Amino acid sequence: MTLTTDTFTWVSGLVRQRSAIVLETGKEYLVESRLLPLARAAGSTDVDAYVRGIRQAGSPRALEQVVEALTTNETSWFRDALPFTTLTRHIVPQLEAERPGGVVKVWSAACSSGQEAYSIAMALEHLVAARRLEILGTDLNQQVVERARAARYNQLEVNRGLPAPMLVKYFTRHGSDWEVSPTLRSVTTFARHNLLDAPPGGPFDVVFLRNVLIYFDLPTKRDVLRRVRQAIRPGGYLLLGAAETTIGIDDGWERVSHDRGSVYRPASGRAA
Ligand SMILES: C[S@@+](CC[C@H](N)C(=O)[O-])C[C@H]1O[C@@H](n2cnc3c(N)ncnc32)[C@H](O)[C@@H]1O
Repeated sequence: MTLTTDTFTWVSGLVRQRSAIVLETGKEYLVESRLLPLARAAGSTDVDAYVRGIRQAGSPRALEQVVEALTTNETSWFRDALPFTTLTRHIVPQLEAERPGGVVKVWSAACSSGQEAYSIAMALEHLVAARRLEILGTDLNQQVVERARAARYNQLEVNRGLPAPMLVKYFTRHGSDWEVSPTLRSVTTFARHNLLDAPPGGPFDVVFLRNVLIYFDLPTKRDVLRRVRQAIRPGGYLLLGAAETTIGIDDGWERVSHDRGSVYRPASGRAA
């Protein structure tokens, strides 16, 4: 069965309003397949009927679940590798030279189920050992935030990019799952946060905002980048996904090239 235009228009409007994720016409199949598990849990296989029910008498949580179902939570350990080598080889040495002995504050924004935040902790193990690292991981989707907090991953998830020595050093086996060590967990906290809202604290030395701007339209990308800029301390850094840039979107950043990639810093002397 295919969704009615009315259902698709309502769902895509709700998702856009609450998350800024753009669902273009043609994504009806995606919407239907993502909402089917919710409809089934409510005792129906008819997504149209399920959405009609929510529109008439849906609880706030039911509406949130629809939005969460339309987020894409694809992630992996040390995703794309380069941002993590740039962090250890260039960014953190620079921060440490500026503020010897200081605590490095990192925001992993739109962190999904936490692999990015824990990868940052593993990459910066010398700071973890010295208790000089604080990582805040945030995401709009409550379910992935809870998974990140639980810090348990199955074998398939662990196989996606986690080097064997890191697995041995930082994980313990629990049945068929692997649990992140208390050492890494002691420097990471997770919270629900919508990038459409004010930043969740700061100022941060480093912000990872990776593979999420791609879901937004241009004005939203600009707004998000401006808000994130206000949450980074002068001299701090922003790392984006491989397909993302600030260029042509928000001119309050300067691009710094390292190795084969780019990172961004709030442009000095520029007002927010
Ligand atoms: C593809 S994942 C990226 C995860 C991780 N940053 C990475 O690069 O592997 C995108 C994440 O963005 C989150 N997201 C989407 N819209 C959001 C919003 N408005 N505010 C906060 N998080 C959002 C989704 O829930 C999802 O977990």
